[in-house]
Amino acid sequence: MSKSEELADLKKECLSCLRCELGKTRNNIVFSDGNPDSAKYILIGEAPGENEDLTGTPFVGRAGKLLNEFLIQAGISRQEDLYIINTVKCRPPKNRVPSDFEKEQCRNFIERQIKIVNPKAIILCGATALKSFYTTKIPISKIRGEWLKINVNNIEYNAMAIFHPSFLLRNHSMEVGKPRWLMLEDLKRIKNM
Ligand code: URA
Repeated sequence: MSKSEELADLKKECLSCLRCELGKTRNNIVFSDGNPDSAKYILIGEAPGENEDLTGTPFVGRAGKLLNEFLIQAGISRQEDLYIINTVKCRPPKNRVPSDFEKEQCRNFIERQIKIVNPKAIILCGATALKSFYTTKIPISKIRGEWLKINVNNIEYNAMAIFHPSFLLRNHSMEVGKPRWLMLEDLKRIKNM
């Protein structure tokens, strides 16, 4: 079975999930985007927003469009190099941060996706993804850009935290050392690993 076939089976299981309250208000499960058979990296965001909930695809709203621009500049193909998921599969009402309980209910799906895709590295996009996979008190602004080791279900992966594109929507400068400049540097390091 190819990775896409294994993931299609997992998605079927996920589609009927009602383990937490988010299942009651969702329009769509936001399972993944990208090609698991060619992906080198898994990118984990926070949670689906309104556009993602309506389309069933992660990172398609304003933040997603900005992420796409950075990926192009860094030479990373969204469709071939990445497999994109979030810490939860359903949209939290009013785009609030998902609770620990909600993330725990989704964790098994996420861990199985990671195991099947078996990426070269995991990109933790934003503080919620960072905190879900790496125990630290260091803020994302200090730890981003460093290669980390994370353990997911007893398998060790290379990982790097990067800023979330929503944060960059509020920080426009491309000046050296500013968040947008750092984002591009981080993505280039990932591309060249
Ligand atoms: N923000 C996220 O973290 N994930 C998405 O899919 C969209 C916006």
